[in-house]
Amino acid sequence: MGGTAMRRRALITGGSGYLGNWLVRLAPPTWDITATYWTQPAAAPGATWRHLDVRDAAAVMAVIGEVMPEVVIHTAAANPGANADFTAVNVDGTRAVARAVAAIGGRLIHLSTDVVFDGERGNYTEEDIPNPITDYGRSKALAEAEVQACGVRALIVRTSLIYGRRPPLDRQTLWILNSVQNGAPIALFTDELRNPIWVESLVGALWELADGDYNGVLHVAGAQALSRYEFGARLARFHGVAPDPIRAMSSRASGLIRPLDCTLDCSKARTLLRTPLPGVDTVLVGNE
Ligand SMILES: NC(=O)c1ccc[n+]([C@@H]2O[C@H](COP(=O)([O-])OP(=O)(O)OC[C@H]3O[C@@H](n4cnc5c(N)ncnc54)[C@H](OP(=O)(O)O)[C@@H]3O)[C@@H](O)[C@H]2O)c1
Repeated sequence: MGGTAMRRRALITGGSGYLGNWLVRLAPPTWDITATYWTQPAAAPGATWRHLDVRDAAAVMAVIGEVMPEVVIHTAAANPGANADFTAVNVDGTRAVARAVAAIGGRLIHLSTDVVFDGERGNYTEEDIPNPITDYGRSKALAEAEVQACGVRALIVRTSLIYGRRPPLDRQTLWILNSVQNGAPIALFTDELRNPIWVESLVGALWELADGDYNGVLHVAGAQALSRYEFGARLARFHGVAPDPIRAMSSRASGLIRPLDCTLDCSKARTLLRTPLPGVDTVLVGNE
């Protein structure tokens, strides 16, 4: 029982990223993990590491064909912030991954986002039609369409702002803590609502979903809807920093084209999963 020959094989794209790194760290021992990086040779133990640029479809096919994973968890993505090439990485890269997984008869778990929605209504279910209003959102909606078009067995997991309690921390927490500690004024939106999710509960849910066979689309986010401003203040307080320098700002009044209420209805995930999906006020307690 439990010999290495019995272990199931998973490949994680974007293992060097925030979510990918935690997927490697918290992988159940039943899984044999290969993880990929692009520019940051990754440090997390517990995986075999492979270099991969998802824009290179032949390389994607070669790596997936060699590893022959039962499940691929596709977290690699160009995210907002840098001068990211959303189309090449998120759309073309996802198509390459989905086709390679289909070619080996594997199953794909594809990470998507709440900003595939326009944010006009909120509390979106899996049946609501994506209507993205940003370049990033459009690329992630097109990525979902690529997954659905290529006939691969796939689960699309839409999630929200991902945060942690302990290092390595997420970019948003680090940005808020650095800014507030250095006295740099920052402003956070009071009218952009999200369901922030604790990385460790998202990872638990993803491994539980990898173990099962549920396919389609699933919303997996935290139980509590908060504005970015409310969320930022809670992150600062939890990490022992007074949130006073954080200014409240209205996204609508800013004139920027950004989705406002992207809260997700996660009732299907709560029915399906044993892993709890707690809200921020349940997770960010008891830091000493
Ligand atoms: N973070 C959030 O709050 C959030 C919210 C909703 C949805 N999501 C989704 O969740 C997933 C994970 O997000 P994250 O925050 O963990 O991302 P992240 O920290 O920005 O990491 C991105 C990962 O993608 C890799 N990557 C970028 N371009 C690549 C390319 N051309 N070829 C191969 N790999 C490439 C990076 O590799 P290197 O670092 O090695 O270059 C890194 O491992 C993404 O699909 C994202 O859209 C995230």
